[in-house]
Amino acid sequence: MNRVLVSGYGVMTRGILPHIASAPDTSVALLSRHQTVPPCPGVTVTALEDAPALRPHVILGCFENDERSQDFWTSPAIRRSVEDQGSCCIEISTLSIDRIAAWHDEIRLLGGTSVESPVTGSRPGAASGVLSAFVYESGKDPRATAVMDTFVRKRYEFTAPGNPTAFKLVYNAWGAAMLHTLAAFVPTLHSHLGADFDIASDIVTSDGWMSLVCASRLGRMMTKDYGDPDFALAHMVKDLRYAHDILGDSNALLNLVYEQFTAALASHGGHVDYTAVTEMGMR
Ligand SMILES: NC(=O)c1ccc[n+]([C@@H]2O[C@H](COP(=O)([O-])OP(=O)(O)OC[C@H]3O[C@@H](n4cnc5c(N)ncnc54)[C@H](OP(=O)(O)O)[C@@H]3O)[C@@H](O)[C@H]2O)c1
Repeated sequence: MNRVLVSGYGVMTRGILPHIASAPDTSVALLSRHQTVPPCPGVTVTALEDAPALRPHVILGCFENDERSQDFWTSPAIRRSVEDQGSCCIEISTLSIDRIAAWHDEIRLLGGTSVESPVTGSRPGAASGVLSAFVYESGKDPRATAVMDTFVRKRYEFTAPGNPTAFKLVYNAWGAAMLHTLAAFVPTLHSHLGADFDIASDIVTSDGWMSLVCASRLGRMMTKDYGDPDFALAHMVKDLRYAHDILGDSNALLNLVYEQFTAALASHGGHVDYTAVTEMGMR
């Protein structure tokens, strides 16, 4: 029996938990600050202090930021669990490059295996079990691979610790910059073309290389449907902040995009979809 402990019940783990629970010979316990009843069949809920008694082979964490991730992995109960079992620890949050480096060290010193695995695919990818994972693992552990195989379709292996995170931070900043371009150009098309905006919308969402970006976000932008986030605005602001560590403080585009996202955060709060940034150009 592969005993798995999952911590943090959010957009991503809500999607992937049923997939993990459906794996053969697997028991799944969820540790959450707010979810106190089992969220789906095959999953039990547990408390932090009970983690060592579960003797988890695999521990998977998904958190909103560095601080929350650090609190979890360095808590006495989790340290003891890893030490007792030599657990394989999987961290799928997007963290800063300094924190992920420290995390690998912490897990190694406890005798565990560390799998750094930021993911992409958002809520639909998590719900369908088809996320893409950017992975560096300190050692091979078939029990961790079995868990990840339930919710990852494409796995990209990096060869050095920290590189999946460095890639993910640059990749996200680049995506944020692309989203920002909608705010820069769509309002002009909207006001200038009048009723013909629908034709423009059809073109940019279906024709040419920009269409993937526009098709994925233009609908939310035009309807101002920012509720029920696929990816919370607060997380994108966090990712852009961490991206400065790798892209530097004098990257003009990063600074502009970061400014727009922090302005959107001030205006909408963090619990809306990150598409809310496009409204900054609609004013
Ligand atoms: N969403 C995406 O598209 C996406 C894609 C790639 C990477 N990521 C990364 O994955 C990490 C988690 O993202 P996420 O979108 O899953 O975050 P999220 O939904 O905001 O959840 C983050 C944490 O907030 C708590 N939480 C969630 N819903 C709550 C509620 N209704 N009431 C109180 N607390 C609640 C959960 O902790 P407790 O269960 O302990 O309360 C959870 O671990 C972040 O580092 C993010 O950057 C997200």
